[in-house]
Amino acid sequence: MSDKGDGRTANGSTGAVTPVAAPPAAAPATIVAPRAEDATPRSLSRFLSLADFETAARRALPRQIYGYYAGAAETSQSFQGNFAAFRQYDLVPRVLTDVSSRSTRAKLFGMDYWAPFGIAPMGLSGLATFDGEIALARAASAANIPSIVSATSLTPLERIAQEGRARWFQAYLPGEDARIEAMVARVQAAGYDTFVLTADVPVAANRENNVRTGFSIPLQPSLRLAWDGLSHPRWLCRTWFATLLSRGVPHFENMDAFRGPPILARNVVRAIGARDQLAWRHLALIRRLWPGRLVVKGILSPADAVLARENGADGIIVSNHGGRQLDGARPPLLALPEIAEVSGSMAVMLDGGIRRGSDVLKALALGADFVFVGRPFLFAAAARGEAGVSHAIALLVAEIERNMALLGVSRIEDVGAAHVERSPFPR
Ligand SMILES: Cc1cc2nc3c(=O)[nH]c(=O)nc-3n(C[C@H](O)[C@H](O)[C@H](O)COP(=O)(O)O)c2cc1C
Repeated sequence: MSDKGDGRTANGSTGAVTPVAAPPAAAPATIVAPRAEDATPRSLSRFLSLADFETAARRALPRQIYGYYAGAAETSQSFQGNFAAFRQYDLVPRVLTDVSSRSTRAKLFGMDYWAPFGIAPMGLSGLATFDGEIALARAASAANIPSIVSATSLTPLERIAQEGRARWFQAYLPGEDARIEAMVARVQAAGYDTFVLTADVPVAANRENNVRTGFSIPLQPSLRLAWDGLSHPRWLCRTWFATLLSRGVPHFENMDAFRGPPILARNVVRAIGARDQLAWRHLALIRRLWPGRLVVKGILSPADAVLARENGADGIIVSNHGGRQLDGARPPLLALPEIAEVSGSMAVMLDGGIRRGSDVLKALALGADFVFVGRPFLFAAAARGEAGVSHAIALLVAEIERNMALLGVSRIEDVGAAHVERSPFPR
């Protein structure tokens, strides 16, 4: 893993970044140290890995909402390919390396984080649990990892910055200079230091599973929707009614510089604007306007990585949107090595299909500086709220830390190409 993202933006400014101290490095493991699971509350102790949260989330959530969270585009080829890609690589452990003082701490853009992963931006997170967007941001900031606020979130980005201490905002922008200028100004005024432009959504994806479950954006009031709510009374009372009581029907708050439509409405069409006109010149425009870190999300081609760099990006997220956009798009892990090679001083991040600490280590070994994880944290929020997200973060950190020892490395920056090889077995 290279040491990139030195805390300066491509245009030379240092951005509005204040380093946050990481939690103290994990004490060297000894046989008298308390085991992590001893401190876990009973309500969380049955969640042993990220995968365990999905079963609980499926039960907790109305069918439409669970389907929207879990689903992917068309045949799910890219979604499944993301997992298959990790199985195409084997780790190559080294032994007898004295790993007694290992640490998961990772540096990105000059910041010290507890571990080399963060929470990916996910729309409608506010429906996973009461104040879901605040829950995700709070759990992340308490653990000292980054979380990215989605453009399709339901809580005003200013509130998530204040109450959740979120510092990364992800935008969906139309190719219209005036709307871009207004949005960048709003995000800056709210105190964010990292602006993520998602580039792989020129049009809405074809997600047939949403049509089958009756999910739409905005949600259309229907008997089916009402029944689904009624058959999940806990979610209905603790999330939906609690939200209505505290702030009325949620709106798309962060698509633009102004408030968007409500999420429950008949005959309302979201004015997403000319998103299919968005082009590299708009990234250059954002670069001129935005003094902080600038990241492009949704890169899968080395040629686009070069264009991102030339137009002023400080980092890229190699991603196929969790298989939710172009079905058949290559898995980010397979695209990673050739993209890392041409990325120069940009930070290279990756998301899609990461479910285990060993997946994180494979991505780092193949050239990522940092990774993001999506659905599992949403499922953790749906299953157990903020405490669930904190537990999920701790589980992934523990897996990384344990697997570092088994791999024979003590520091995240020591994970490198020698620790991974292409598997000879198709799995
Ligand atoms: C429910 C859901 C909503 C999402 N919404 C957004 C979004 O608003 N903006 C965005 O850039 N990516 C969005 N994504 C994609 C994620 O940021 C990320 O790329 C993907 O979830 C990573 O794959 P994983 O879920 O396998 O970890 C969404 C993903 C999910 C599952």
